[in-house]
Amino acid sequence: MDNSNIESLKEALKYSPENIPLRFLLADNLLTLNRFDEAEHEYRIILQASNDTRATLGLARIYYAKGSYSACNVILEELIESGRHDVDTLVLYTRALIKENAMGKAIEVYQKVLQLNPGYANEELDSQLRSRVGYTEQDGDGDDEVDSRFLEKPSVTFSDVGGMEHVKKEIDLKIIKPLQHADLYKAYGKKAGGGILLYGPPGCGKTFIAKATAGQVNSKFLSVGLNDILDMWIGSSEKNLHEIFELARHNNPCVLFIDEIDALGASRSDMKQSSGRHLINQFLQELDGIEGNNEGVLVLGATNTPWNLDPAFRRPGRFDRIIFIPPPDQETREAILRLKLQSKPAEDIDYRQVAKKTEHYSGADIDAIIDIAIEAKLEAAFVDGIPKPLSTKDLLEAVKKHKPSTQEWFATAKNFALFANDTGLYDDILTYLKIKK
Ligand SMILES: Nc1ncnc2c1ncn2[C@@H]1O[C@H](COP(=O)(O)OP(=O)(O)OP(=O)(O)O)[C@@H](O)[C@H]1O
Ligand SMILES: [Mg+2]
Repeated sequence: MDNSNIESLKEALKYSPENIPLRFLLADNLLTLNRFDEAEHEYRIILQASNDTRATLGLARIYYAKGSYSACNVILEELIESGRHDVDTLVLYTRALIKENAMGKAIEVYQKVLQLNPGYANEELDSQLRSRVGYTEQDGDGDDEVDSRFLEKPSVTFSDVGGMEHVKKEIDLKIIKPLQHADLYKAYGKKAGGGILLYGPPGCGKTFIAKATAGQVNSKFLSVGLNDILDMWIGSSEKNLHEIFELARHNNPCVLFIDEIDALGASRSDMKQSSGRHLINQFLQELDGIEGNNEGVLVLGATNTPWNLDPAFRRPGRFDRIIFIPPPDQETREAILRLKLQSKPAEDIDYRQVAKKTEHYSGADIDAIIDIAIEAKLEAAFVDGIPKPLSTKDLLEAVKKHKPSTQEWFATAKNFALFANDTGLYDDILTYLKIKK
């Protein structure tokens, strides 16, 4: 519409001044032509005649276009309070909030838009708000902070991981060697890629060994829980997932550790939004490297409930190695104890004895035991004011106060290993439990 058409519209309105749709047409077009005062005049006439909230929205648009963002927001807040929750209103409100630098509120409103209209996509708002989620308004450039939030350069290596020799070997063969000798692999036409999935009871070192893998190859470590991808970020989960992979690709060499892989199978509110299938497909495409070059990206996944996992994940080139991470054996427990007590004031500890008394205890349980022992020591120190080092006895006392947390997991896992183990996937669990097939 150009200015000459405006004249015809005005002419027509002279003959039927009561025609509200016609006046809306005029007002909306005046607005797009930046003839703000005239547009405002028309919207106000509509409001006098009909109280139509679309005219109020029109006024807010005028203020926005003129750069009067706070006036725009006052109008919009009233509108929303009166019950208007449509996309147009909320998106304009989001935009005006961004202009006023009220990012926290803008994110909140935009999330509502996405909730009410799952299919809604807006590149501009996505990119402006996405990187800021989880941060306060004062934060500067969001992108770097997202990067640094998920990315780290670990100082632990395999030598810090007690025991777990076969896990280290698998990781070495399957993902470290291909990284270090990419040309050799190419020469034999062997495709590098694919990932390793770690599973087992909580607290037994899945995250720790993944981190140590990154330290081992001196690469960056990008760790993210799938639930983070589902919950935290604005925009669709598929897109978030893609961006995590992209972040890893841009920072290669990189160990990409994805925790809570089982969340893909669970029913979550987000699953309704983007339908779980889509997200799973997206994940597989990222793994397959269809969406980008995965060279230099080592993918490790972890789950406590592998039986919830979609079988498509296990195909060659994807998570084609599935490794059971059992509770630490005696030797490993001893190593963990040494590692954890290194920096604590302690006497000559009989590590072997403490390790012996902690069968079925996970690494996290050992953390807890040390914590309990230290608390007891602190209490005693408050009495006489003298801090004393930890002793073997303190640790053994603490063991009595803390039950191992892995048993519950095995109660469930055992059933899957016995009754849903056609492919032998869970044989390791049976071996650990000393059950014969
Ligand atoms: N083999 C090990 N050597 C040294 N430390 C270990 C070992 N295994 C576990 N730990 C320690 O135990 C703690 C718990 O391990 P971690 O967080 O890796 O468990 P997880 O398997 O990822 O558990 P969850 O399933 O709850 O995520 C860590 O603090 C880690 O330092
Ligand atoms: Mg973990």
